Parts: sequence; structure tokens; C-alpha cells
Amino acid sequence: MGKAAWIGTMAMLATTHVAAAPPAMPVNPTAGTADWWKLSVIYEIYPRSFADSNNDGIGDIKGITGRLGYLADLGVDAVWMTPMFPSPQADFGYDVADYDAVDRQFGTVADVDTLIARGKAQGVKLILDFVINHSSDKHDWFKQSRASRDNSYRDFYIWRDPKPDGSPPNNWTSLFGGPAWEKDAKTGQYYYHFFYPQQPDLNWRNPKVEKAMFDAAEWWLKRGVYGYRLDAVGTMFERADLKDNPVASGTDPYGLPQQQRLYNTEQPEIHPTLQRLRQQVIDRYPGRVLIGETYVATAPELTRFYGAHNDELQMPMFLSLIGTPLTASALRPRIDAVETNPAGGWPTFALSNHDQPRAASRYARPAGTSSDDMAKMIGTLLLTLRGTPILYYGEELGMVNNDPKRVEDVQDIIGRKGWPKEKGRDGERTPMQWDASTNAGFNAGAKPWLPVAPDYTTRNVAAERADPDSVLSLYRSLIAERRTNPALAGDMAMVDRGNAQILAYVRTGGGKRLLTLLNFSDTATVMPLARVGGGRTGRIVTQNRARIDGATIRLAPLGLMVVELL
Ligand code: GLC
Ligand code: CA
Repeated sequence: MGKAAWIGTMAMLATTHVAAAPPAMPVNPTAGTADWWKLSVIYEIYPRSFADSNNDGIGDIKGITGRLGYLADLGVDAVWMTPMFPSPQADFGYDVADYDAVDRQFGTVADVDTLIARGKAQGVKLILDFVINHSSDKHDWFKQSRASRDNSYRDFYIWRDPKPDGSPPNNWTSLFGGPAWEKDAKTGQYYYHFFYPQQPDLNWRNPKVEKAMFDAAEWWLKRGVYGYRLDAVGTMFERADLKDNPVASGTDPYGLPQQQRLYNTEQPEIHPTLQRLRQQVIDRYPGRVLIGETYVATAPELTRFYGAHNDELQMPMFLSLIGTPLTASALRPRIDAVETNPAGGWPTFALSNHDQPRAASRYARPAGTSSDDMAKMIGTLLLTLRGTPILYYGEELGMVNNDPKRVEDVQDIIGRKGWPKEKGRDGERTPMQWDASTNAGFNAGAKPWLPVAPDYTTRNVAAERADPDSVLSLYRSLIAERRTNPALAGDMAMVDRGNAQILAYVRTGGGKRLLTLLNFSDTATVMPLARVGGGRTGRIVTQNRARIDGATIRLAPLGLMVVELL
């Protein structure tokens, strides 16, 4: 054990000595069932940033294995690990050069096998990230593809002749800046890339691509992986005639005119392809799941990703919740729409990930409230809604964004290209904060790839676990409640629907009723029990800035309460 880890352990022992040890995490009663994922908590780990076992500044797989005890104690049922495959790291792993191996900076395939095996023993499943839209330009398929026009891999990617004047085949722009086409001198054609030029789009109209990618998915399932989070699914297909996108007003952060990406996103061919992935690969392994990175705007669009017979993705994330204003009036109809989706699909919610500023600091806050108060609102919402929450590492600590101050310090290429309008995603990817020791216990002292956030001396696992009022303690208590209170496995009903300040809902199951109240407004307010169906309050599961006063509950701005109704 390194010196830093020692100090961390000592600090933890010192504090737990004075505070009463927090209650142990109960087991998830559904863990062994086919529907395990419905009552589960899924936790996203960005491996570069979680735990660095060999002290080279970059987090790694052994680091994650070493922290399985923490994950089990938090009540995490499955980890979604973002890409750790061999990669030139142009997009920090989202440029995959080999789908069936592990990048040496993260470890080895044997390390993943160990993570799976130890995770199994601790009740933590492993889900991988499957980057299906594109590979790295250093993938062997692309090296072959660009070698000549008649190479057998040419059609693995999307190649087109220039227009007669030499310009790109159409007006499509890359999400990451510049045209979506890169001219390759050797063969005189352009290839298409929705993201960086180092991420050429795979040609999913080619059955050989489908076969090769399905085989890659199966390779890891055989090793015991529990499924995939599918990267950027909306970009898998382009309209066959490559029609120009309509130009919209304004410019993108990289200086080109905005466009509506009508013809290179959300094409209908996506759905039968994903259904085949589900049936031909995933469903052959019991209990395996597909999560979708689905950035659709509306619930009807989301519904399509479940498949008409729930035969596509089990968990398309309703990511447009991230762009929804955090108010009762804005959240209620969107949650309702997912709740009542015609496919009867299971709701899946996330408010943070490695591409979005951290939620605890993303929203404007009422005067007198802290980012911890905000983090508690977010955690309570995610953990009491009907559906599977996908948490982002450090969210349970209330970690806040830490954007680079100077462009020279930026690691994420889009931040360098788009500075200062687009600062990139470094701010939400800083090292996990384990304890108050050097580098927050991320490693034994080597300079981390991104700086540790300055608040780590107080905002860290060791300190928060010992503090019953911390964000971490709120997350733990609500996750424990999910595992033990049948109401949180039961029905969901919005109550007091006209309320513009408080989002209120009741979960019912196994003869229990649980009321959640979240005052997203900037004024103090009261909720009379009569307005949420009457009755009496029972045990308070958790609260912050709220109290019971006879037959009403009083909530300060960002006040919250989760309470049993008798
Ligand atoms: C997804 C990933 C993001 C990546 C992009 C391209 O949106 O979450 O991090 O840059 O796909 O693979
Ligand atoms: Ca390392």
C-alpha cells in the first residue's frame, strides 16, 4: 500500500472513531434476476480519472478493482466503464483502434477479467462502452480502407468523390468543428467523420461491418461483461443520398454556420440494426443489457429506441433531461412523458456524464444555498423516480466542475479548438476525490493527467462517509432505501401537478407509500399534506432544508424531503 493510501486509511480510521459508523448497505434483492437492472444503480467510471494504481498520473483498471469495496458500500450494482480499448486517445478512448483488447495505459485483458471476477464476488457487474459509430483512424480496418480504392475494407467506411470543384461531397459539419469530410491524398476521395477526423464513421450499410461489430460485442460478453452503453447511437446512419443539411442561424463554437443535422442523425435504419444487435447478440446471454446514449429531444423519439415490442434497448437514457430547466414546471411534463411512453419502456435517467458540466454546479442557485444543496436535490430526484439512475463518478460527493483557466492547460481537443466559447470537457473529468491526502488519494503523488479540484481536502469520500449530513450520506441512505422499501420498486404518481415550486410525487408498493418533495424554486414554501392525498407522515427517509410542521411540510429554497406516508 502506497504512502498516500495509508494516510487516507488513517484519516478514515481517525474520523470513524468519533462519528458512529454509518449503516451497512443492504443487498439488492433483485441482483440475481433477469430484471436486475430495473432496481439497480448504475455508476459511470471514466477510467483515466478514477484511481491510478501504478502512479503514472492516469487512472487504470486495477485502480477500479482496488475500489470495488467502495462501490459495493455505495450500493452500485453495475459500473459502466468508458472506453479502455487500445486508442491513440485523440478523444480519450472514444477513438478505438482495436475492439478486442485493452490499452496498455489502462492495463490488460487479464485486468478486466479480474475486475469482472472480483466485481461478481462483491455484487458489482461490469458494463462496457461500445463505440459503434466510428473507429479510430489507426484501426486496422481504416488503415486498409484508406490504402486503395479497391481494398476489401474500402466499404467499411464512407468514401465519396469530391465535388467537381474539389470541395467536400456535401455541407455536413462535424460536431467537433470543421467540415465532416476529410480528403485523403492517396486515393483522392473524402471520408466522412461526424466527430474528429481521427474518428472515421463506420459504414453500417455494409453487412460486413455489422458482422465485425457484432462479433466485437460478443467477444466481451463471453468474458462476462453484462452489456454495453452504446456510444452516439443517433449518428450510426446517414441518409443514403447525402442530402445537404438545412443551414440554421448563427455559428457553431468553431466558427462554421450552424446546421440542423437532419440527414446525418436519427435515421430510421438505426432501429432495425439495434434490434438485430439485441436479438442476435445480447439476448443470447441472460441478463445482458443495452444502454443508449440517446440525446433525443422528445419522449416519442425516445420511445422508438425501446423498440415496439421492447426488443431494442432496455435503457435508452432520457438525456434531454440534462437540458431541461431545473424547475418543477419544466421537469414534470418531461418525466410524465417518459413515464407514459407507449412502448412501456423502463425509464432511465442521468443528469451528469463525462460530456456535460457537473450537475451540482451547472444550474443557477437561489441565494443562500450551496452546491451541496443542489447536489442533494439532484441525488434525491434520480434515486426516488421510477427508473434506473445512471450516476457519474463523484456525483455522489457533490463534485463540481473545474474548468481549465488557460487554453494552454486544456486536454480535450474541442476545448482547444473552441476556446473560450467551448472550454471542452476537462472540467467534469478531474480525478475522483478519495481523501485529504496528496492528489486526493487518486494516486501516490505523480501529477494527475488533469488537476485535482481544489475542494478535495473537504469534499472527499473519507470525510463525507463520516458525516451523516454529507451528499454521500444522502446518496447512501436513498440507495439503501431503494433496496429495502418496496414503494421504490412500485408505482409512481405525480401529485399536486399545478405546483410551480415543488415537484411532488408518491411511490407506492408492498403496502408502503413514499412521498418525495423537491422545492426547486428560490422561495420558501409549504406543502399541506391534504394536497398530496392526505394522511399522516411517518419515518423521514431523508431531508435537507425542510421540516414537518403539523399537517404541512415546510421547505426552504432547494429544500427536499422523502417521507413515508401512513
Ligand atoms: C459520445 C461520448 C463522447 C465522445 C463522442 C464521440 O458522445 O460520450 O465523449 O466524444 O461520443 O465518440
Ligand atoms: Ca495508471
